[in-house]
Amino acid sequence: MLSGFHTTQDRRIIGLMSGTSADGIDAAVIRLGEKDDGLSLDVLGFDTVAFPTGLRHGLMEVSDSKTGRIDELSRLHFELGELFARAAYIAADSAGLTMEEIDLIGSHGQTVHHLPERVGRFGVETGATLQIGDPSVIAQRTGVVTVGDFRAADVARGGQGAPLVPYVDFLLFRHPEKVRALLNLGGIANLTVLPADPKPEDVLAFDTGPANMLIDAVARAELESDMDADGATARLGRPAEYLVADVLAIPYFERPPPKSTGRELFGDRCASDLVRAGREAGLSSADLLATATEITVRSIEDACRRFVMPVVTRLDELIVSGGGARNGFLLERLARVLAPAEVSTSDDHGLSSDAKEAVAFAVLADRTVRGLPGSLPGATGADRPAVLGKICLPG
Ligand SMILES: Nc1ncnc2c1ncn2[C@@H]1O[C@H](COP(=O)(O)OP(=O)(O)O)[C@@H](O)[C@H]1O
Ligand SMILES: [Mg+2]
Repeated sequence: MLSGFHTTQDRRIIGLMSGTSADGIDAAVIRLGEKDDGLSLDVLGFDTVAFPTGLRHGLMEVSDSKTGRIDELSRLHFELGELFARAAYIAADSAGLTMEEIDLIGSHGQTVHHLPERVGRFGVETGATLQIGDPSVIAQRTGVVTVGDFRAADVARGGQGAPLVPYVDFLLFRHPEKVRALLNLGGIANLTVLPADPKPEDVLAFDTGPANMLIDAVARAELESDMDADGATARLGRPAEYLVADVLAIPYFERPPPKSTGRELFGDRCASDLVRAGREAGLSSADLLATATEITVRSIEDACRRFVMPVVTRLDELIVSGGGARNGFLLERLARVLAPAEVSTSDDHGLSSDAKEAVAFAVLADRTVRGLPGSLPGATGADRPAVLGKICLPG
């Protein structure tokens, strides 16, 4: 435990996150304290800081093993560190606070490659994952203790290094009677299932597959837009069942958890195959977007049927967060296929669905400086829970 952090008094923590969509930095300021039945948490400020023009493209190039260059990777690591630090100032400002009033920063960084499967080489066997946006830069710019690189400790314990939000879901959303599932719809869809009155080891969590990643890529190709806002175009189309089935045949979907995925499997190559096949078959833009949306819906439905229902037998509530919570059509489809589960957004439970992941890394940073584990072996596949992250001291 880092001395000075074993207080039970309220602390103000900034959480910084950029997900697989690489659309910008989500920056949240929380007040975290203790109450009788667990944590008390308020979101004091939040902002999404869009990436400068060209940065997303640079990240896509560097993330792809065919186009990535080590000099670009090194540069982006530091440039992102600077941009994350700037986002921290913007978040503090949005909360009406100065940086001197912030106790701690937790920064997830930007994943550029995620290879969770263990491979044996050179007499060792390990998975690998890489998040950039150096936390030392953030600590130096802000003067605030910064925790970064949350995934490595879990990978070192034989886990996938993902998903990491489930422990925070457990802390914030567990319910004495209801079976709840939390679904974050970022580039990738992450599901956390909380049985009624759960213990940490009862939590089931994994990545179901793509959320917005394919939808966004199809929108870029067909609408020259970064997204299908509210799912308005998909709503007008009809999914091509055989194309949905083609993607759902990817072996990832039938693999039992623990499992996590990313752009390596559902990135631009998967999307361009889908767009090409759709165009060859004469599908309209609306049909292609309906198809991409249906892939997301059905992969989540299948994951619930295959891996969730056998464990919990019923699902009372599905609480959605992430940018996909703004896609009304996607939510309607999910509500239909997962009925009778009641579908809501995390906003309905008092936590902004845009801020939720950034908030989670603020909470995880607090655990780290207290020497408490933040991972769930049931979610990541590690041999035991790990204290996550690297602590960078300013000064
Ligand atoms: N109004 C909207 N309608 C539909 N989709 C949206 C909307 N706003 C955001 N999104 C989707 O959410 C994505 C970003 O979600 P986010 O949770 O930030 O993902 P990530 O964690 O991968 O960065 C966008 O790429 C877009 O696909
Ligand atoms: Mg994002």
